[in-house]
Amino acid sequence: MYDSREQIRFIDLFCGIGGFRIAFEEACEEQDINAKCVFSSDIDKYAQDSYEANFGERPHGDITQIDEKDIPDHDILFAGFPCQPFSIIGQMKGLNDTRGTLFFDIARIIKEKEPKSFILENVKQLVGHDKGNTLKVILKSLKDLGYHVQYSVLNALDYGLPQKRERIVIVGHKEPIMFTYPDPIKPFKPLTEILETKVNEKHFASDYIKNKRKESHKSSFYPSIWHENKSGNISSYPFSCALRAGASYNYLLVNGERRLTPREMHRLQGFPDWFKIVVSDGQAKRQAGNAVPVNMIKAVVQKLLPYVATSLDQAAVLREYDLKFNPS
Ligand SMILES: C[S@@+](CC[C@H](N)C(=O)[O-])C[C@H]1O[C@@H](n2cnc3c(N)ncnc32)[C@H](O)[C@@H]1O
Repeated sequence: MYDSREQIRFIDLFCGIGGFRIAFEEACEEQDINAKCVFSSDIDKYAQDSYEANFGERPHGDITQIDEKDIPDHDILFAGFPCQPFSIIGQMKGLNDTRGTLFFDIARIIKEKEPKSFILENVKQLVGHDKGNTLKVILKSLKDLGYHVQYSVLNALDYGLPQKRERIVIVGHKEPIMFTYPDPIKPFKPLTEILETKVNEKHFASDYIKNKRKESHKSSFYPSIWHENKSGNISSYPFSCALRAGASYNYLLVNGERRLTPREMHRLQGFPDWFKIVVSDGQAKRQAGNAVPVNMIKAVVQKLLPYVATSLDQAAVLREYDLKFNPS
């Protein structure tokens, strides 16, 4: 069917299960823009299965094996990339310092394809990694490629999700723009809107674990999510601590009694209920734990989109955003 709306082409690198894609497509839909994914890549077979079941396309595999010249032209690039130590650090040679890391693959694609904008996401620890050198090298490499680059640490809890998840979000644009990160949008969704009412017995902790938890902690909230830290201390909140792909079995327990279901984990990351969960519970936990919080990225996209789309009246869209989310 012919679509006369403005089309924005994007690529979804390290796509996982498509958190960036949902955020971008939703934000574009709200502005009556046609968001078109022209390339996606993830090395993990199970992530590819989930992505294909939900978006009808199987992502390409290992990005290190893909020639940047083979990637289609696009307007905006998304990448929530794994953080790895850089081997030659502190010498500030720019891009060459990043060879052998997955960031290098993002940078070589940006260099070749010159998208208008990009959004990169990583764990908050990237900021302090190697005393700040890793981030410095990343930012310098991006600036050397001709981009105006900004970064901020955002928390999913500030963007409507009941999950404390802090992530660095790096935004780059070819032109100098007045981009500002979205102000917090409060309040976050109550857990009652996340938690399922009928939960299979298999998600419940053993009586031994439940009793042990309840002996050592009393929560001031109901419902609440109980979190056990590395030293075994329990805390509980009306929101979840960050979901983690490789967390131990009982790291988070709803009301100290049961683990989160796969659907609840996806909801905590802002994935809508139409999202099909087609993998095992173990894989679903890994995928949700690796994903980017959809609402947080959507808020960033809403502030960036007026600079990427040519059909939008920048000032009007940004004013409307402010009126909606920062009425004072
Ligand atoms: C932090 S997760 C990104 C998750 C994604 N933003 C989402 O919303 O689901 C990083 C992803 O990078 C993928 N990955 C790691 N090495 C890769 C490589 N060499 N090529 C392509 N993907 C890779 C992993 O399989 C993982 O899914």
